[in-house]
Amino acid sequence: MRPPVSQDALAARFAERGARLREMAWTDIPRLAQLEREAFADDAWSAQSWWAELAGRPRREYVVVTGRSTPDVADTLDEPDGKPDLAAETDDTAGTDAIEEEILGYAGLDHAGDTADVMTIAIAPAGRRRGLGTLLLDTLVTRTRARGEHHLLLEVRADNTAALALYGRAGFTTSTTRRRYYPGDVDAHVMRLTLEGAS
Ligand SMILES: CC(C)(COP(=O)(O)OP(=O)(O)OC[C@H]1O[C@@H](n2cnc3c(N)ncnc32)[C@H](O)[C@@H]1OP(=O)(O)O)[C@@H](O)C(=O)NCCC(=O)NCCS
Repeated sequence: MRPPVSQDALAARFAERGARLREMAWTDIPRLAQLEREAFADDAWSAQSWWAELAGRPRREYVVVTGRSTPDVADTLDEPDGKPDLAAETDDTAGTDAIEEEILGYAGLDHAGDTADVMTIAIAPAGRRRGLGTLLLDTLVTRTRARGEHHLLLEVRADNTAALALYGRAGFTTSTTRRRYYPGDVDAHVMRLTLEGAS
């Protein structure tokens, strides 16, 4: 398990990537429904599902990450590690050429007593492999700790290589496998992270 990270430290890490975290708003729903279709196809939550989820707060807790979806290739070439310095771009364009921010990803929790469940986590295709999914997952862990809960659970398709890698790196381990749980006879892994030191 990675060491605990404060909300402030997470905000700084998002900013390093030219991204920002905020609470989800009702006005985000049309864009969320669109991103869901891109991320989950036939399993996508509709706008109606999102209304019900947001109405479930504060037991439910949802955040979005905003920023610019496509870094310029030229900026990437300037960086020694080959990764774009999106924070620098933001500074450069503070004047006439302001960056239009859009939702790049989102995630949410259900707080159910001693345990929280990851309800969803997704990054828009154009925003992937920049570490934003990792930061969103760290945000969920930090928020679970903040409520004094001791376990974080989630369910993931056994064929979702990207998500399994993301969760494994964060210290989640598989506690059960539900055979042929998803359509197409795909197994579901129930994964758990135990938060030591949660109050
Ligand atoms: C899973 C998801 C949220 C990951 O978001 P992301 O921002 O690309 O993740 P990160 O950039 O933080 O990647 C973290 C690590 O996960 C692994 N990973 C991410 N995408 C991967 C892929 N396509 N294949 C293999 N490993 C992958 C890598 O180990 C990666 O680290 P690296 O880039 O240093 O190699 C994103 O792929 C997504 O939205 N998928 C569709 C929705 C979904 O399946 N959500 C999970 C439901 S359970």
